[in-house]
Amino acid sequence: MQEHHIENVLFDAEQIGRRVSELVDDMAHQYQSQNLVMIAILRGSFMFFADLVREVNRHGVHPRIDFTTLSSYGSGTESSGKVTIGRDATVDVAGADVILIDDILDTGRTLSFASTHFLSRGAHSVHSCVLLDKPSRRVVPITADYVGFEVDDVFVVGYGLDFDSYYRELPYIAEVTFTGEAIT
Ligand code: XMP
Repeated sequence: MQEHHIENVLFDAEQIGRRVSELVDDMAHQYQSQNLVMIAILRGSFMFFADLVREVNRHGVHPRIDFTTLSSYGSGTESSGKVTIGRDATVDVAGADVILIDDILDTGRTLSFASTHFLSRGAHSVHSCVLLDKPSRRVVPITADYVGFEVDDVFVVGYGLDFDSYYRELPYIAEVTFTGEAIT
């Protein structure tokens, strides 16, 4: 692991909470679907997803909920470029209106892969909601339908996001500053 510091808080818990509520309100017209499925792309979205679906409950809708594990990152901070499915969602998405929830839209490979995957499994529509968007990093031309916050090309952790499986528990989102050589 590289020597690093977590100092610069980009979004604190209060800002995140407010934005989550706004996003859920913004998605209101999606809730008219009689066949709504919300799928979290794990693992980084777990906290965001839990907060989002609790807020969706304010709107009195009862989506089916499932999880899929996709990965394109190894243990470091650089994407491998190849998306693989660890665990697929088991819910039947045929004819469903799917909303994918992801932590960060970075190169776009993961969301693009997931959208194509659920459409090929017969979803009627696939929309996406991401906590963070790093537009400057895009490789695949894709935009999310709902975006929490835009961030520059910095590596971030907290609120579900990790560096080498650390820092997911932080209630805020912070920038990782790399300072030196490998320490392990
Ligand atoms: P792509 O490149 O497919 O990547 O859009 C999306 C996934 O990459 C991970 N990612 C990050 N994880 N801090 C993290 O903890 C970051 O700054 C970061 N940037 C990308 C993340 O898993 C996301 O789902």
